[in-house]
Amino acid sequence: MYKYALLCAAVMLMSGVFADDSTSFSKDCFNISGTISFNITYKMADDKLNSYEVMLTNASTISNFNCKQTEGPIMAVISEGGSDLTIEFDINKNKTKVASMDPQHWGVSKMIYEYTLSPADVKTVGRRQATAIGSYFVTPINHTYSCSKQQVKLENVTIPGANDTSVEGEFINFSETGLTIRVGPLLPDTTDYDYHYCKADQKVKDIVPIAVGVALAALVVIVLVAYLIGRRRTVAAGGYERV
Ligand SMILES: *[C@@H]1O[C@H](CO)[C@@H](O)[C@H](O)[C@H]1NC(C)=O
Ligand SMILES: *[C@@H]1O[C@H](CO)[C@@H](O)[C@H](O)[C@H]1NC(C)=O
Ligand SMILES: *[C@@H]1O[C@H](CO)[C@@H](O)[C@H](O)[C@H]1NC(C)=O
Ligand SMILES: *[C@@H]1O[C@H](CO)[C@@H](O)[C@H](O)[C@H]1NC(C)=O
Repeated sequence: MYKYALLCAAVMLMSGVFADDSTSFSKDCFNISGTISFNITYKMADDKLNSYEVMLTNASTISNFNCKQTEGPIMAVISEGGSDLTIEFDINKNKTKVASMDPQHWGVSKMIYEYTLSPADVKTVGRRQATAIGSYFVTPINHTYSCSKQQVKLENVTIPGANDTSVEGEFINFSETGLTIRVGPLLPDTTDYDYHYCKADQKVKDIVPIAVGVALAALVVIVLVAYLIGRRRTVAAGGYERV
């Protein structure tokens, strides 16, 4: 009877593990996967800040993209419910640093999020645009970026229009968990990719072999000490050394 209950519990646990809300966006030249959410911080009537979170669902789609480098930067626009996330890539195939991108690396050079603020306590209701410019997710060419959790702050919030009015104090935190980004040719089997792990994940990867090494060393010491103590006792008790 409780074998059955155990099985049920196991199934429920497994479904919890596999019921993920990760999304995947790909075209010929890129693949962006992971669970993407935005923490939107806005100004209330009393100028204090409040925030809410939006998560991209499977209903989000690529509404625009460019894979032809001759026609401008490689980019993707991911849209859902009237909000648009634009991701622009920079690929530096040169052997020297170009702009902010390392030689023979690619990365995200720009992220723009356009959204509408509609909570009841917003000071200025309406359309917003937040931007991040820099070099994010920088990865050697032909490698796939992988990170278990990452955030990018999008600032310079403006009310888009004829004279982009800026809104002081507001910002967006783009956050993605279980993130993989590939720029370049996609392969049928993702296990064939060379992955480039973010710093936080590299640390975890280093910690495991170090921990194993320390455990093994400790074991050797314990065995040695036990042996020495054992030997001393044998000697003291007039053991094998007195023939
Ligand atoms: C995109 O990446 C995800 C995660 O690695 C993978 O499951 C999916 O198959 C990839 N899609 C394509 C078209 O390569
Ligand atoms: C969203 O951002 C605000 C301000 O940084 C923070 O106080 C809040 O805890 C964040 N919310 C979530 C769900 O991460
Ligand atoms: C790469 O280098 C070449 C010549 O060294 C230069 O003409 C080209 O503009 C560089 N590429 C980029 C993206 O700057
Ligand atoms: C990346 O892969 C493409 C296609 O497989 C290849 O032509 C190119 O030489 C590679 N570039 C680097 C820097 O490895």
